[in-house]
Amino acid sequence: MISKQQAAGQLTELEVLVKKKRVLIIYASNHGQTRVITDVIARELRARGFEVNSRSALDGSKLPPPGDFDLVVFGSRIQFGHHASPIIAYLHEYAATLRTMPTAFFSVSMAAANGGADPNGYLDATFTSLGWRPTATVAFAGALPYRQYNWVLRFVMKQIAKSAGHATDTTRDHSFTDWNDVRGFAAELATLARHERSHAS
Ligand SMILES: Cc1cc2nc3c(=O)[nH]c(=O)nc-3n(C[C@H](O)[C@H](O)[C@H](O)COP(=O)(O)O)c2cc1C
Repeated sequence: MISKQQAAGQLTELEVLVKKKRVLIIYASNHGQTRVITDVIARELRARGFEVNSRSALDGSKLPPPGDFDLVVFGSRIQFGHHASPIIAYLHEYAATLRTMPTAFFSVSMAAANGGADPNGYLDATFTSLGWRPTATVAFAGALPYRQYNWVLRFVMKQIAKSAGHATDTTRDHSFTDWNDVRGFAAELATLARHERSHAS
């Protein structure tokens, strides 16, 4: 026969066991593709039983600190060769905590449409200057939503796309993201989030 106190204690342990793992996704998207990728990752993780909090780094709101989460995922578009500065600022501000827990970073660019693990070295440049690397990194091809651009940007992006051999029909939007890769990355994240905290190098 167990006492009421023991039963209460066991219930707390049970609650911890069944407590959903929490994932924070912080993303930076100017024209929507990184946000859509974030949504797909969040949906995949929720379907696997995770609690997901996805937050834009560009809307000016205060971002939650990483400590309450089992995994923190960052997703940033590339513009003019750089990931978004609010994401970089967060990586610096919380480096001490982030280094001790599972983290992941996905980079979204047009350079990634040509393949390769780190097109143009965008990931390497970011993490070399930061001094630490997330547990998992990946580069996804982004999009050319010509219809969203003003005429100057449409003209400039068309010239860049032409020289890179990408789509130049500005009457429609073009997506180059491989959604199977995105879902595969989400599956990798699920494995990462299930792991206990460990000290990263
Ligand atoms: C103003 C601007 C600058 C860009 N600069 C780069 C770049 O330097 N390298 C690159 O590979 N892609 C570049 N891109 C392509 C974007 O990374 C791509 O369109 C991505 O899908 C944008 O993500 P978002 O829709 O979430 O903002 C640029 C796009 C824009 C609009």
